[in-house]
Amino acid sequence: MTRRAEFEMGLFVVLQFMFMLYLCSSEELLPEISPDTSPQPFLPFIAPSPMVPFINTTIPKLSGLCSLNFTASEGLIQTTSHNCWTVFAPLLANVMCCPQLDATLTITLGKASKETGLLALNRTQSKHCVSDLEKILVGKGASSRLRSICSLYSSNLTASSCPVINVDEFESAVDTSKLLLACEKVDPVKECCEQACQNAILDAATNVTLKASEPLTDNSVRISDCKNIVQRWLATKLEPSQAKETLRGLANCKINRVCPLVFSDMRDISGNCSNELSNQMGCCGAMESYVSHLQKQALITNLQALDCATSLGTKLQKLNITKNVFSVCHISLKDFSLQVGSQESGCLLPSLPSDAIFDQDSGISFTCDLNDNIPAPWPSSQSSASTCEKPVTIPALPAAASSQPGLYNEGVTRFGIFVLSLVLVILLS
Ligand SMILES: *[C@@H]1O[C@H](CO)[C@@H](O)[C@H](O)[C@H]1NC(C)=O
Ligand SMILES: *[C@@H]1O[C@H](CO)[C@@H](O)[C@H](O)[C@H]1NC(C)=O
Ligand SMILES: *[C@@H]1O[C@H](CO)[C@@H](O)[C@H](O)[C@H]1NC(C)=O
Ligand SMILES: *[C@@H]1O[C@H](CO)[C@@H](O)[C@H](O)[C@H]1NC(C)=O
Ligand SMILES: *[C@@H]1O[C@H](CO)[C@@H](O)[C@H](O)[C@H]1NC(C)=O
Ligand SMILES: *[C@@H]1O[C@H](CO)[C@@H](O)[C@H](O)[C@H]1NC(C)=O
Ligand SMILES: *[C@@H]1O[C@H](CO)[C@@H](O)[C@H](O)[C@H]1NC(C)=O
Repeated sequence: MTRRAEFEMGLFVVLQFMFMLYLCSSEELLPEISPDTSPQPFLPFIAPSPMVPFINTTIPKLSGLCSLNFTASEGLIQTTSHNCWTVFAPLLANVMCCPQLDATLTITLGKASKETGLLALNRTQSKHCVSDLEKILVGKGASSRLRSICSLYSSNLTASSCPVINVDEFESAVDTSKLLLACEKVDPVKECCEQACQNAILDAATNVTLKASEPLTDNSVRISDCKNIVQRWLATKLEPSQAKETLRGLANCKINRVCPLVFSDMRDISGNCSNELSNQMGCCGAMESYVSHLQKQALITNLQALDCATSLGTKLQKLNITKNVFSVCHISLKDFSLQVGSQESGCLLPSLPSDAIFDQDSGISFTCDLNDNIPAPWPSSQSSASTCEKPVTIPALPAAASSQPGLYNEGVTRFGIFVLSLVLVILLS
């Protein structure tokens, strides 16, 4: 983490503390605990509106040189600013912030193409638009480091290496009815396994690259750039809310496939956990300490936690640790996520796309699923980490392979976790 971010976080926490002290010293200001957030097992405090002073909803001074109509994407931009909220943006980058920013750009460019007939901006325009959008988002409370957090470049709005940006030309190069049929109704659960829409996008992007005047031996970068163009075109054909859902759904298929956590050196575990677990306490101590470092990295989805358990287990097995130390040391899936509150409760985000919720009274919060203790599965040789062939049926996981939307909500504990407490816990632990 950069120094600036640390500073921002530090300052934030200092202010939080001052606010808490203020709250505690004035009885009548103590927050009412709203009934719909019960049960309240672990929140150290629930502060009313401490975030509000941090929102500087200024009207930013824009370049005037960007032709995109950001007003028409107001709702998307608002959600992006919440998902990318100042200090939380790095923690939510992978799951909420950047995918939402990406969807916002894609939909905004799609809208613009209805007027201009073009699915991309030129470099000059693009620079101004990225800078303007950044100003708008920061003005609404988003992190000022979005460019580095989300790898946002001006090339994100251009054609990059894709040879076709003209809508008419695009539609003549692509079997549009086939593309629409595959993508107009995307079931976010089914799609991750069946990849019908993803394959149609790839197919369309490949067909578009064939329009290039100079063929390349390696077309992969070009195809990837054309996929963005295809998505912008798709966004014009879908209802705005449906476009967002589809794009976020497609993004989540990718997100859920990999564990985003960085695994550091495992020397302590291998030293303590080998020898047929002669020293169980030492081993579990080392495991706990290792996992507690993982917990500080990011908020992850429940399916990502499953990936992370598989990654860690596989790495441990490579170190000749054959005993299921997850089970011996009671490591659960939620142990891989950020912990909230002093009673150690992990927050795993739902595997389906979700957004941060802003509320005047409680600030930023988001929904956590799976607060119960699902033991982390120890990878076995025949099991696969793939979401589609899940090795075990974990009841509280949203059935990724099932398309029944009802299943997703049933039996899943939901908590609105106030991120404020979260940051405090991260910093103080
Ligand atoms: C809000 O932002 C504007 C422009 O960036 C700045 O001049 C002003 O001081 C800020 N207000 C607060 C309360 O931070
Ligand atoms: C931008 O979009 C808004 C809402 O759709 C519309 O009212 C406004 O006229 C548009 N502005 C321009 C310059 O097209
Ligand atoms: C911008 O483009 C880069 C490189 O193609 C990509 O990694 C990044 O995710 C994009 N960012 C957004 C916000 O779309
Ligand atoms: C870029 O696009 C804008 C608006 O479409 C246009 O006014 C400008 O002349 C273009 N610049 C270049 C270098 O093509
Ligand atoms: C891409 O081109 C192939 C071969 O011409 C065609 O069969 C396919 O339908 C096209 N797909 C799309 C989505 O355009
Ligand atoms: C065992 O783990 C502890 C930390 O929990 C570490 O300090 C110690 O060096 C480890 N022992 C070995 C032999 O690796
Ligand atoms: C694991 O055990 C095998 C066989 O006992 C040995 O050859 C290998 O070096 C060990 N690997 C590690 C990382 O200790």
